[in-house]
Amino acid sequence: MVYYNSSTKQHPVNEPSKKMDQPLEFYQSLPKVELHRHLEGSIRVETLADIGREHNFPQRDTSTLRPLVQIGKDEPYTFENFLSKFAILRLFYRTPDVIGRITREAIADAAADNVRYLELRFTPVALSKAEGFPLGHVMDWVVDGALAGQEQYGVVTRLIASVNRHESPDLAEQVVWLAMERRNRGIIGLDLAGNEAEFPAQPFEGIFLEAKQEGLGITIHAGEWAGAENIVEAITEFGSSRIGHGVRVLEDETAIALARERKTVFEVCITSNHQSGVVQHLLQHPFPMMLNAGLNATLNTDDPSISKITLSEEYQVACEKLGLPVAMLPERILAAAQAAYLPPEEKAALVERLRNELNEKIPAA
Ligand code: ADE
Ligand code: ZN
Repeated sequence: MVYYNSSTKQHPVNEPSKKMDQPLEFYQSLPKVELHRHLEGSIRVETLADIGREHNFPQRDTSTLRPLVQIGKDEPYTFENFLSKFAILRLFYRTPDVIGRITREAIADAAADNVRYLELRFTPVALSKAEGFPLGHVMDWVVDGALAGQEQYGVVTRLIASVNRHESPDLAEQVVWLAMERRNRGIIGLDLAGNEAEFPAQPFEGIFLEAKQEGLGITIHAGEWAGAENIVEAITEFGSSRIGHGVRVLEDETAIALARERKTVFEVCITSNHQSGVVQHLLQHPFPMMLNAGLNATLNTDDPSISKITLSEEYQVACEKLGLPVAMLPERILAAAQAAYLPPEEKAALVERLRNELNEKIPAA
């Protein structure tokens, strides 16, 4: 059976059962690109425990906190359970220092995993809720944390402001204007996230079109907890060049053809899709089929702390559980870099740096 068929190069086919396993250190050694990672889903459990102690929360040790904020093996793998973790996390955004700290630590953790370019998305409305912080202040604390983290840990970091479908379009509009005011401080994109199963994207369409016109990159969670028609909507109505997840694209030939024609980039997050009930069996994740259908699918983490994963581990899962030949990893990493919401010269420099380094690690690249 042909598992993968690269559009640009031919590689020996790896069937999952006959693969050559690589140690995790191999995947960690690769320079990586992350396009889809939520700040709120990246918070260390140890940091939550510190905050719990500082604020006298009943939840103040890691063993109490872990099951509240991470997906355990025996929990239901549903989107409701997945989203419930964010509601608990919201209780912890208590001070400007906390928001700066979690931002810097998210970048430190990306650096430790050898991520070289990170687009970190954050949800100003969620971060502002517990204390009623003004949205602009929250955004400044994240921006400052990201600039400090980038400087300290050497990960090129850009920010995407995220708004949830299940929250008010009026608040989303405020977020967009505040994001546009902070474009020269690292906010480069806008994301629509949240409960796709029960809330339509349409109320946000005008806001997203405005943001796009003003130069923000647009990405939309679609075809994750609802069908492929949401991917078509995101591409045709919102002008989205990237789709968060989009794994249900394969249900609809028209959606496949459209995404192929527009060269839409899919920000695929394998473990998240399993844990949130999109894909029942990890081994049946459609990432291989998406590539075989000629779609531009990249590998990402979504919420590394909630899922208890790293990007290196996701690359390992793709190769060793889904049969992606290791020789195809450089191409997928470079595809992610090409999809970065960076100005053309910065993007070209990033791609060139990664290409050179990947060539040394995996010479066939
Ligand atoms: N927010 C954080 N993770 C998400 C996901 N996988 N889907 C939608 N919204 C999210
Ligand atoms: Zn996401």
